[in-house]
Amino acid sequence: MNIVVLTGAGISAESGLKTFRDNGGLWEGHRMEDVATPEAFAANPELVQNFYNLRRQQLRSDEVKCNAAHIALAEFEAQHKGRFTLITQNVDDLHQRAGSNNLLAMHGELRKVRCLNCDAVMPYDEAITPQSQCTQCLQLDCLRPHIVWFGEMPLYMDVIERVLQSCELFVSIGTSSVVYPAAGFQQLAQHRGAHTVELNLAPSETASRFDEAIYGNASTLVPEYFSGLLD
Ligand code: OAD
Repeated sequence: MNIVVLTGAGISAESGLKTFRDNGGLWEGHRMEDVATPEAFAANPELVQNFYNLRRQQLRSDEVKCNAAHIALAEFEAQHKGRFTLITQNVDDLHQRAGSNNLLAMHGELRKVRCLNCDAVMPYDEAITPQSQCTQCLQLDCLRPHIVWFGEMPLYMDVIERVLQSCELFVSIGTSSVVYPAAGFQQLAQHRGAHTVELNLAPSETASRFDEAIYGNASTLVPEYFSGLLD
């Protein structure tokens, strides 16, 4: 069976990382438009860099660990005989730490940076400062977080469209389904004949479109649901 899974911030909520929309509309104390747009970066690069520097640093804290849901997906992928694609909207690295392989981080990755001068993308675990240097073109003060901001094109869209076309089971986990194009993946898969399932704490914006929905904490639901698929 060809399975596509889409994850959002809810899968990492029990790993010590706050979701985007469960905190009064603020993300770690900031309005999204002040930190997650190209316009915000142009207007106040220091504020935006500091914001992502802190998020990057937070990933290294002892409190942030992958949880049973991340691990269940990685274990399922290792045992599943058919095709398995994990698409995540998350910019943390918890799926990678759990061992997921066929992973598309469509909104970018906090532990990578992009050079505004030569476009190179490179792993990066430090704070970006004006002294930071691109390891490819050696220019100073030219790095930005490798994050897809509002108004920018998500990554891997060609691959994602292809896997959704032949998808037989689509499972959406821990996303409020308000941000497109990800919020539209369920419909694309469903039109192609896939069975679609929502696993979330509470019904998402598009909950009524799914063929099946189960509500609760990801760390409980995801291991249960995917172990049932292996039976
Ligand atoms: P949201 O914060 O919008 O939604 C999180 C979802 O997770 C909600 O539907 C919650 O009900 C659910 N949730 C919370 N705790 C949970 C738990 N323990 N188990 C299961 N579900 C839980 O996050 P996303 O939908 O991921 O984009 O947000 C989508 C995009 O908006 C993000 O990728 C980000 C943001 O702007 C960019 O940064 C480009």
